[in-house]
Amino acid sequence: GCRSNLTGKHILITAGPTHEPIDPVRYIANRSSGKQGYAIAAAAARAGAKVTLVSGPVALPTPPGVTRVDVETARQMATAVEAALPADVAIMVAAVADWRSAGEAARKIKKDGSGSVPPLQLVENPDILATLCRSDRRPPLVIGFAAETNDVIDHATAKLARKGADWIVANDVATHAMGGNINRLHIVSAAGVESLPELPKDAAAAALIEKVAHALA
Ligand code: C5P
Repeated sequence: GCRSNLTGKHILITAGPTHEPIDPVRYIANRSSGKQGYAIAAAAARAGAKVTLVSGPVALPTPPGVTRVDVETARQMATAVEAALPADVAIMVAAVADWRSAGEAARKIKKDGSGSVPPLQLVENPDILATLCRSDRRPPLVIGFAAETNDVIDHATAKLARKGADWIVANDVATHAMGGNINRLHIVSAAGVESLPELPKDAAAAALIEKVAHALA
């Protein structure tokens, strides 16, 4: 088949969840295996790109030829993304926690047996994708992801404008169990919607990277 060529291009990818500590033993996180983001990083490296993968905590090996930067929190991910610039393409696949605890307790919060619960005050995390899109170092092609359980295309179209991304890749997480190996991607851009068939995550990644290579050519 035709092989995408991304030689000389720097592709910045975020993947996995972020963990937002509540105390030394507890955290807030989104459900994310990191599999789709890692598959995209692997496909980009196979296509010859220089790949920086900024990764939240996942149990996956680093794909061959990929430079991996491990982070835990959204704020660390934001810093690592900025440090990795400039890039020709950014693909933000990470499931970033929208909120973090306002104050991380230095010691484990204890149950006191009275049935009372500790107050958990949340504050908003930085939106890494939206910040990158507004940055003066914005990569020429910025791609966001949208995991939705309903009205997948409508939500992705709204997200395109709200975030300022060039493409939003939407996937229906209601029909495909998270952490699984199969995905159905819908690529939403100003040009319209391109729906890929149901594919294993590595094949979906290869198809997306081929589309990226075409866009840069
Ligand atoms: O609307 P939502 O925040 O779910 O959009 C998801 C997209 O935005 C994904 O590409 C995700 O990686 C990115 N995102 C981000 N920083 C956040 C929240 C989401 O980069 N704080």
